[in-house]
Amino acid sequence: KGLRVQDKGFLNTAVIRSGITYIDGDAGVLRYRGYPIEQLALKSSHLETAYLLIYGSLPTNEQFKFFESEVMRHSVMHADAEGFFRSFRYDAHPMSMLTSAFAMLGSYYSEANPSLQGQRLYTQGNAASLATMDRQIYRLIGKATTLAAMAYRVRQGRNFVTPPTGLSYTGSFLYQMDHLSEENYTPNPVLEKALDVLFLIHADHELNASCTTVLQTGSSLVDPYSAIAAGCASLYGPLHGGANEAVIRMLISIGSPQNVPAFIEAVKRREKTLSGFGHRVYKTSDPRSFIVRKTADEVFKVTGKDELLETAMALHDAAMKDEYFIKRKLAPNVDFWSGLIYRAMGFPLDFFPVLFAVPRVVGWLAHWRQMMLQEGGVKIWRPRQVYVGAGKRDYVPVEERE
Ligand code: CMC
Repeated sequence: KGLRVQDKGFLNTAVIRSGITYIDGDAGVLRYRGYPIEQLALKSSHLETAYLLIYGSLPTNEQFKFFESEVMRHSVMHADAEGFFRSFRYDAHPMSMLTSAFAMLGSYYSEANPSLQGQRLYTQGNAASLATMDRQIYRLIGKATTLAAMAYRVRQGRNFVTPPTGLSYTGSFLYQMDHLSEENYTPNPVLEKALDVLFLIHADHELNASCTTVLQTGSSLVDPYSAIAAGCASLYGPLHGGANEAVIRMLISIGSPQNVPAFIEAVKRREKTLSGFGHRVYKTSDPRSFIVRKTADEVFKVTGKDELLETAMALHDAAMKDEYFIKRKLAPNVDFWSGLIYRAMGFPLDFFPVLFAVPRVVGWLAHWRQMMLQEGGVKIWRPRQVYVGAGKRDYVPVEERE
């Protein structure tokens, strides 16, 4: 007779068993494969953590060297992709470009397409199937930075840069973004490390909207490029990965600390949203926000303080002691501070969600791989609805309609 219970926004629906990321929202705990995020941020690197998230354990030295060289080797893009990027309007949002680019990438690799190679391409778990899956993982992680840098440079009318050899993942990314023509250009090591930490803490966050989208899309057994493109589209929204951009736009609109009380009142009247606050899972604090704040201090030592910092701090302090936010357990999330770092580092404002999407490719792939290899095979994600529309009625020709 149809379903009667609706779980709007999936507040209480678990769709998968997962061993990847653990979150205790009440205690403000985040662990990747059991390791606390604070330890990883301090001691690991984005690529080592990527291996951990995808394959389940920290790599040996040899495993890491192999993984890193495969990812970096696959960062080079086919020259034809230049024409693709040049086809966008001069003011295209970089997230539109990145989303399209991931889908475009799928057209390059017919070996990755279950529609051509057989629908059990990724679900068999044998050596050939795992190797095909690994290659797509290296490619997607390797090329994510290259596609992002291409989206950045095309808008500035600059030539594209071939990924260099011998630099770290974030070092190579910064090089591709900013390299002009000097012979011995090297990215600033403090900024390279800071970006690596930010990438690491953005790498996964279990079943957020974009990861769910990747799995939902992947559950039809489509190729991983299409699934990642779908995840990227989901992340773009201002309630999710677009929040770091929205925070800065909000701070600019507030203008100065004196205007903070009026803004807070507008939020309480529901005329505005306090971007960078609140989270579906964290109800005390987002542990990533502390790491971001510490990273901000390191970055500001190099770049100087951002002029919006004072307004951000005034807004943070005002919200943290206001009954409206306390009652609803709204605390700063990862996006509240991260935009200030990206701004200080000189990234354009609309590029901030890209800096969220690039590292999140890792988490999306970890979940996609886990789902492809889960016991009992993949079940297509097909939720049900509570139907509230019209009962049966007969078609009326247009001339007889009132
Ligand atoms: N500003 C003002 N009020 C808020 C906010 C906010 N940022 N967040 C939640 N509330 C209110 C909301 O109106 C509701 O009030 P009431 O109970 O009176 O109707 C109450 O707090 C509970 O919020 P909710 O909307 O039911 O929470 P949710 O779990 O559905 O939404 C959220 C979570 C992150 C979408 C939401 O907190 C939000 O819109 N935050 C701002 C956008 C943002 O910073 N997003 C980044 C999230 S962290 C990075 C990521 O994973 O993407």
